[in-house]
Amino acid sequence: MSAALHHHRPEPHDFRAAMGSFAAGVTVVTVRHEDRLVGTTVSAFSSVSMDPPLVMVCLKRDSRTLAALSQARSFCVNILAADQGELAYRFAKSGADDRFALTAVEAGICGAPLLAGCMTAIECELHAAHDGGDHEILVGRVLRVVTNETKTPLIYVRGGFLNI
Ligand SMILES: Cc1cc2nc3c(=O)[nH]c(=O)nc-3n(C[C@H](O)[C@H](O)[C@H](O)COP(=O)(O)O)c2cc1C
Repeated sequence: MSAALHHHRPEPHDFRAAMGSFAAGVTVVTVRHEDRLVGTTVSAFSSVSMDPPLVMVCLKRDSRTLAALSQARSFCVNILAADQGELAYRFAKSGADDRFALTAVEAGICGAPLLAGCMTAIECELHAAHDGGDHEILVGRVLRVVTNETKTPLIYVRGGFLNI
């Protein structure tokens, strides 16, 4: 790659707009840490490997969920259903400590809570953590999946939820 290309970088606004044009599902990543339930809204989620079954999420470095996940070393990725847009915003609000107040939960096999009404729950143990700039890339080894095939997904694109 030429030096000129190497030093080229997009304006933050353009980068955000470009990434916002990629339609993504929405998840809430949950953790149980020292008997406290912690979780936040995450759209940076992807499958990684079939064998072994691995997935990844990206959490910003100052995320309280990241701190709890790094300690607990297990987590659950709750994939939201189309009618859970409000829940997505509640779990994204900073400083709100009552994120779980309105949602029924069930303890998963590694302790991380499964949120009621989601499309799918993917329970993981932490497999690896990688540098991702101002985010951390957490790779989870999948222990169990629970999916509700009657639900349709919540989709986030261009900074809002798609109505489907
Ligand atoms: C639709 C949506 C998607 C989001 N995706 C991510 C994400 O992939 N990674 C991330 O770190 N934050 C993401 N956020 C922002 C976090 O939810 C937000 O910063 C939250 O306050 C972090 O909480 P915590 O510090 O308790 O973990 C997203 C927010 C919304 C509304």
